[in-house]
Amino acid sequence: MSVRLAVVGAGSMGAQIAQQAALQGIDVTLQDKSDEQLHKAAGSNRGHLARRVEKGRLSQADSEAALGRVRTTTDLEAAAGDAEFVIEAVFEDLEVKREIFAELDRIAPRNTVLASNSSTMGISKLADATKRPELCVNMHFFFPVLVMDLVEVVRGPATSNATVERAMAMAREMARTPVLINKEIDGFIVNRILHAATQEAYRLLDAGVASFEDIDIAVEKGLNWPMGPFRLGDFSGLDVTYNARLHMYRTTGDERYRPSPQLEAKVKAGKLGRKTGEGWYKY
Ligand SMILES: NC(=O)c1ccc[n+]([C@@H]2O[C@H](COP(=O)([O-])OP(=O)(O)OC[C@H]3O[C@@H](n4cnc5c(N)ncnc54)[C@H](O)[C@@H]3O)[C@@H](O)[C@H]2O)c1
Repeated sequence: MSVRLAVVGAGSMGAQIAQQAALQGIDVTLQDKSDEQLHKAAGSNRGHLARRVEKGRLSQADSEAALGRVRTTTDLEAAAGDAEFVIEAVFEDLEVKREIFAELDRIAPRNTVLASNSSTMGISKLADATKRPELCVNMHFFFPVLVMDLVEVVRGPATSNATVERAMAMAREMARTPVLINKEIDGFIVNRILHAATQEAYRLLDAGVASFEDIDIAVEKGLNWPMGPFRLGDFSGLDVTYNARLHMYRTTGDERYRPSPQLEAKVKAGKLGRKTGEGWYKY
């Protein structure tokens, strides 16, 4: 029998984490404090699976079964009371997450793993809100979870080997590929490498070495990335890219993180990418 999974937070990540698990036959309870979010999550998952059925990649029966395997509730106790594994995916807010970890510790069975999908908080920031730090671990999924294959499993200083193994096994059971990060480090692997490459692209632009269009073409054709750094920035939102750099620059003082003046100008002009109709490109 598969593991009983609870997912806390039904936003863009939690909704799809739950659905991806259910597609692999895992029974999931998806919890959010907002009923509206739970409805939105269920509707959006139904849409994603319907498109797979239309394309002939999933049978109608399997789609219905996978949708039926995700129960929704606003009651954390009902979600985690008999869960063997919990994945937390609520807002990126330390206090909110710490409160949830403390509550989960009270509610969930003693041997239940408590995993966080946080992109920036190492598990040690949450584990000490519980009496089971050895059962706490990061599991960092990528958006959109129904498409992106990778999970970064990050061990905190107190995480036990058994918990690491259970997190790796959980990712595999969800048909996702886990990688193990042995030390807590900002940005884990993927965001560090993305950040380094993107900063280099901005340095080339600011130094007048090439146009942003040509840097994108070079990266897309030469490295086979699906999107160059500027196209990707427009896609994710230039304010997001800018604020991440500013935060790192201010907290470390390291020149490597200083945001590019041209990026800053775009953000100040409100040209944030696709969502505003213009960023590096026009949409
Ligand atoms: N969006 C991404 O691309 C991405 C990628 C990887 C990891 N993450 C991480 O995933 C987490 C969630 O991100 P998201 O983009 O899905 O956020 P989101 O804003 O789409 O969703 C957050 C959800 O948490 C719910 N929530 C807030 N407080 C709650 C509480 N006390 N109890 C239950 N539910 C509560 C909200 O109602 C909302 O539905 C964050 O930690 C983020 O760092 C995000």
